[in-house]
Amino acid sequence: LPINHIMNNKSDSSLQNDKNRGVFMKNILESSWIKSEKQDKDAAVIFFRDFHVNEKVEHAQLQITSFGVYEAQINGRKVGNYIFAPGWTNYKERLQYQTYDIKTLISKHNNIEISVGRGWRMHEEYDDSLEFSLGATALLAVIEIVYKSGEKQIIYTDENWQVRQSKLKYSNMYNGDVYDATFEDKNPRPAVKFDYPKNILIPQQGERIKEIEKIPALRMVITPNGETCIDFGQNITGYVEFNICGQKGEEVVLYHAEILDKEGNFYTDNLRSAKQEVRFICDGERHVYKPIHSFQGFRYIKLENWSDEILLDDFKAIVVHSNIRRTGYFKCSNKLVNKLYKNILWSQKGNFLDVPTDCPQRDERLGWTGDAQVFARTASYNFGVNKFFEKWLADLKSEQCANGSVPHVVPKLPWDGDGSSGWGDCAVICPWQMYLTYENKELLSNQFDSMRKWVDYIYEQSENYIWAKGKHFGDWLSLDEKDEKGNNATPDEVISTAYFAYSTSLLIKAGKVLSLDIEKYEALLSNVKKSYINKFLDNNGRVVCNTQTGCVLTIYFDLSNNKQVVADQLNELINECGHLKTGFLSTPYLLHTLSENGYEKTAYDLLLREEYPSWLYPVTQGATTVWEHWDGMRPDGTMWSDSMNSFNHYAYGAVADWLYGVMCGINIDENAPGFKHIIFRPVTDERINFARGCIVSNYGAVKSSWSREDGVVKYFFTVPEGCTATIYIDGKTKNIQSGEYEF
Ligand code: BGC
Repeated sequence: LPINHIMNNKSDSSLQNDKNRGVFMKNILESSWIKSEKQDKDAAVIFFRDFHVNEKVEHAQLQITSFGVYEAQINGRKVGNYIFAPGWTNYKERLQYQTYDIKTLISKHNNIEISVGRGWRMHEEYDDSLEFSLGATALLAVIEIVYKSGEKQIIYTDENWQVRQSKLKYSNMYNGDVYDATFEDKNPRPAVKFDYPKNILIPQQGERIKEIEKIPALRMVITPNGETCIDFGQNITGYVEFNICGQKGEEVVLYHAEILDKEGNFYTDNLRSAKQEVRFICDGERHVYKPIHSFQGFRYIKLENWSDEILLDDFKAIVVHSNIRRTGYFKCSNKLVNKLYKNILWSQKGNFLDVPTDCPQRDERLGWTGDAQVFARTASYNFGVNKFFEKWLADLKSEQCANGSVPHVVPKLPWDGDGSSGWGDCAVICPWQMYLTYENKELLSNQFDSMRKWVDYIYEQSENYIWAKGKHFGDWLSLDEKDEKGNNATPDEVISTAYFAYSTSLLIKAGKVLSLDIEKYEALLSNVKKSYINKFLDNNGRVVCNTQTGCVLTIYFDLSNNKQVVADQLNELINECGHLKTGFLSTPYLLHTLSENGYEKTAYDLLLREEYPSWLYPVTQGATTVWEHWDGMRPDGTMWSDSMNSFNHYAYGAVADWLYGVMCGINIDENAPGFKHIIFRPVTDERINFARGCIVSNYGAVKSSWSREDGVVKYFFTVPEGCTATIYIDGKTKNIQSGEYEF
């Protein structure tokens, strides 16, 4: 565990901070949008020009944004280390621009080239309401140079820029690249100026996306089908950098896959329509190539037409994600649990790419709100995601429907729906969690209106405080039995009404933090709770639908008069089948509801179970990330399905919050959030000999660990400066100040 965690990430010196504000008087708002008159929607275009500087330069900065994703180079050197800038937002209303310090990149005679590919704009293909439908790319930039003499030189984007088609003849976020090294656009043309509203521009708000790590190739695999594959040993999100020298006109191809199938062959059926291919047309010279406008989700690559002798050293997998800083650490005596924890970290890295995505490989990779809300607490313990969520939640707010409903995915897609319980509740749950983990009251205040609108929307949908209307995803992918009509055993209205109550309860808490009048919602909550109990609980206080999901939500959302009765019912249900049956929405709370109500052993049984279905089953199958389905790949090697089967979906990884919160016992006190007051309540189990957890809060590292020595459990706690804690062990309570403690 880290003793002194470095709180601040190394800053990107080329990304401008505020230090020079004031000397740059002009900015991007005064520049003009430019585009290429002729556009092949899938090809990248390069905007370029020369510029000269003639005196001693004091400051130089470049501000850019684009329709599509850009990469800028000055004199052949990349500007900054941002990947896929300007990021992905609700482009209709919010488009980030970036500001770079370019002083060290410029000399007397300069050339600037900015490559723009469609990036996430490809999703707008079906949106006729946009002027920029069908994937057109465009650029808006300004270079401003301040000389030592005080004079200034300003270069706007305008018709003095040229544009040409890139060698990157095809670039698509799902399908990959076609790069033709032999291609030369011999007819560069002047860029065309056009008007487009600039009130959508906002300075960079989220975390930058960066290349984080390079993974060497682990081994070469020749599959039973005779395919030449390379295994990187880890399922990641990013791309491969490869070294190639082929004969002129020869095309080599790299295919990307997450797994090998049961025979050990390269398997891509689960990508659906996403091709994940990189095609490189050689020109006889040696090149080091990596995609700049696309990414893939993969552990394996398959090589085709590779005439070069294949050397593992020629391939590196580059891990790309938002620049979130690691804050959570965990280890215990069970190796499989440790591997599960690592897999959870990898699934977060793989899916925190500017927006919290469901998966990074198939033809989705979207900001599914339900997935994000179930994982938000774990996410905020593992990594510093405050800024990441600030930006994404601002998009959510801007995409919220007039009636308060929330899209299923943010940024919203033209074909997307809205209003599912458990998904829309993201509007309330995520800001509340960011407040708890980071004490971010400002975010809570910024989002409060959006939170309230969602609760009001549910109220409008409900009848007698029961939310039965609408289409819902239910406890997505749960293993509950279906009724004759194919409906899940937990009726949607149980889940929806439970979430209605939960979101209302969090809205009330948020309102209190912000000193707002929330009386109306207190009355609402009491009515929803009454209706829920009347309709969904029987006279003995048991949940009528008799499912694990029903019990978990009833307990965790405080919807019964006697939790113990429901916890007993849940425990019975688990014992009957011997395993969990929960889906996306209730799994994060499953172990909590058990361990908080006297069933610690059952909770540990579920955590430590290695057979399907369980968290450890995929680990025993060699998983390196969290699977979307409990049975993504079955013990006999067959797949759950060949379409909706991602091997990198973080939702079930939400169990990490139990590892921190219960196994290690590190908890936030809602009345003093941000770990200002810590509640330590570790729960041990005979099968585990030690557990250690650490969460680096804004105040410093919060640590809790225990170990079993000669039948005695020793506990260790660290409380950072400025914080206090209460320890609960074996029915005893102790209040402590900052410092290190052993019991
Ligand atoms: C996604 C999920 C998402 C779901 C909605 C899927 O296709 O991958 O993670 O939450 O749709 O039900």
